[in-house]
Amino acid sequence: MRIELRELVLERPGGIRAIDGITCRFDTACCPAVAILGANGAGKSTLLESIPGLVPIASGTILVDAMAVEKRNLTAIRAKVGMIFQNSDDQLFSHTVGEDVAFGPRNLKLAPELVQERVREALQQMGIASLAGRDVARLSGGEKRRAALAGVLAMKPEAILLDEPTSMLDPRACRELAECLKALPALKLIATHDLAFAARVCPECLILKNGRMAARGETAVLLQQHDLLEECGLE
Ligand SMILES: Nc1ncnc2c1ncn2[C@@H]1O[C@H](COP(=O)(O)OP(=O)(O)OP(=O)(O)O)[C@@H](O)[C@H]1O
Ligand SMILES: [Mg+2]
Repeated sequence: MRIELRELVLERPGGIRAIDGITCRFDTACCPAVAILGANGAGKSTLLESIPGLVPIASGTILVDAMAVEKRNLTAIRAKVGMIFQNSDDQLFSHTVGEDVAFGPRNLKLAPELVQERVREALQQMGIASLAGRDVARLSGGEKRRAALAGVLAMKPEAILLDEPTSMLDPRACRELAECLKALPALKLIATHDLAFAARVCPECLILKNGRMAARGETAVLLQQHDLLEECGLE
C-alpha cells in the first residue's frame, strides 16, 4: 500500500489553509507506521481526513495505490483505507457495540458467518469481547475508542489512519493498542500528541508546523532534536 501527497494544499471553511503544500510518500514497503506530529492546529487531522476524501483538495494530488482521491474513486479508496476519528462519537452510530463493529463487514457483503467471525476477532483484538451487547451511547470514553478501533479492524483495511488513538485510553490499553498495531500488516498513519506512543509504534514520523512539513525522518532521531521539537510546539 502506498499513499502519496503531491504539493497538497487543503483549506478549511473560512479560507484557513490547514495544509500548505506538502509532498511526501508513505509506503508499507519502506515503513509500516508513520507518526504525524505537530502542535494543536498544525493540520494533522485535516491531513488524515483528506486521504479518504473527507476534506476537499484545494490544489495538488493525493494518490492511494495510484488512485487519485476524487469522487469516482472514493468507494474503492474507502474499502482500502480505514479511519479512526479524533472524536469516537463521530464514528459510532449503531445501537450495540457488536452491531457497530458488524456494520462495515456487512457492507462488504460478506457472508453472515464471516461477518460474525470478523466481529468476534476485532472485539477480542481490542479486549472488549464482553461489551458486544452494550449500548454504545453508554460506554466510557476509552471503551468508545476501543469500539471504534474494533469497527475499523473488522474491515481488515490495507491502511489505517488513526487520529489521537490513545486519548482516553488507560496505560494498559495504550500498551495493548501499541502491540496490536505493530502486529498488523496494514500501513498506519497515526496523528498523536503522545510522543512515547509514537516512538513505540512508528519507526518514522512527520512533523507539521502551520500546515507545512517541518521534518520527516526516524522517530527516535527526531524526538532527540529538542530545538526542532521546541520550534514545532512539541515540548
Ligand atoms: N471544521 C473546521 N472548520 C474550519 N476550520 C477548521 C476546521 N477544522 C480545523 N480547522 C482549522 O484548520 C487548522 C488545522 O486544524 P486540524 O484540526 O487539522 O489541526 P490538528 O493538528 O489536528 O490539531 P489538534 O492537535 O488540536 O487536533 C486549524 O487552524 C483549525 O482551526
Ligand atoms: Mg486533530
